Amino acid sequence: MSKQTQFLIWDEQAVEQLAKQIQAGEVVAFPTETVYGLGADASNPEAVAKIFEAKGRPSDNPLIVHVADKDQIKHYVKEIPKYANLLIEAFMPGPLTIILPSNGKIANNVTAGLDSVGIRIPDHPAAQELIRTANLPIAAPSANLSGKPSPTSAIHVFQDLNGKIAAILDGGTTGVGLESTVVDCTGEVPRIMRPGGITKDDIELVLGYPIEQSMIENDKPKSPGMKYNHYQPDVPLILIDGNAEFFQSKIDQYQAEGKAVGLLVSEELASHLSADQIQVCGTITNLSTIAGQLYQTLRTFKKTEVDLILAEVFPEEGIGQAIMNRLKKAAIHIEKAENDR
Ligand code: TXA
Ligand code: MG
Repeated sequence: MSKQTQFLIWDEQAVEQLAKQIQAGEVVAFPTETVYGLGADASNPEAVAKIFEAKGRPSDNPLIVHVADKDQIKHYVKEIPKYANLLIEAFMPGPLTIILPSNGKIANNVTAGLDSVGIRIPDHPAAQELIRTANLPIAAPSANLSGKPSPTSAIHVFQDLNGKIAAILDGGTTGVGLESTVVDCTGEVPRIMRPGGITKDDIELVLGYPIEQSMIENDKPKSPGMKYNHYQPDVPLILIDGNAEFFQSKIDQYQAEGKAVGLLVSEELASHLSADQIQVCGTITNLSTIAGQLYQTLRTFKKTEVDLILAEVFPEEGIGQAIMNRLKKAAIHIEKAENDR
């Protein structure tokens, strides 16, 4: 079913309109500090079903519930462990999602039938105004078609979902650029299920002890979303793990096979390379710049212009863990220099 999607610039009136649409069981896109979300009333299963339909999202992949205040969290969960309270105090609002035992108040299709619920307080005034005005918990995945890179601007949402949702609230480009960190808080100790805007170091500093980052790629992911293809650009992407010389040899090799090669690299590496298309996505001296521009850069590569993307391997420290988590999922494979590092 195709319908008109309204495109609204963020102001008070626009927020009021979106809030009414959410209350009426419609699906709308809005900015958060991480990526754009696709929201619906989390207490209305028919509304939530429309999110899965618009995105083409598998129904066994649960959605995060967005609330505006810390006080709201207790309404949807059985209990909050002490360590989770520390995380709430330190990082909410912010790019952190905590998974807690559900008390069943949230629609069953939001949690995909699990007995836990993911909750987050977005740190973006537009998102907060929307949740407060609608006066409802809002279930929201990233506002992209399932499998595509997440949207960091309203235009990306429009490209993916025009005609499939009621409205898009344009609040400019999102800041963090990668999704929230998902932390499982249902056990004795917390476990990172998806690296994101809040780093492992940030969390360990607050808790005072080391925590596990579960390698969700393994057989039975506790976070069901982890088993699906993600962040796929239109063109196949290969990760190149090596120095500039190795990188250039790979470019030359693929070009010799008749392929037009696009690069997704830092400005530092870009200055040493030549290829058919070079997309610079930030500086390695500040990995937040890479995080902020990664998805947008992935979206710039077009099948009509390049046959494949060769992407840099960034240091897996701080936000670099989240960057590499997404890039590894976007990649078809990784090519590593033999005697480099
Ligand atoms: O930054 C973000 O988190 C963005 C913005 C819009 O808030 N949202 C987002 O949602 O990235 P989504 O649906 O694209 O990713 C949510 C992840 C999925 O991997 C999902 O499987 C996991 O969180 N998740 C949600 N609820 C869960 C639960 N109860 N148990 C385990 N994993 C859960
Ligand atoms: Mg997503």
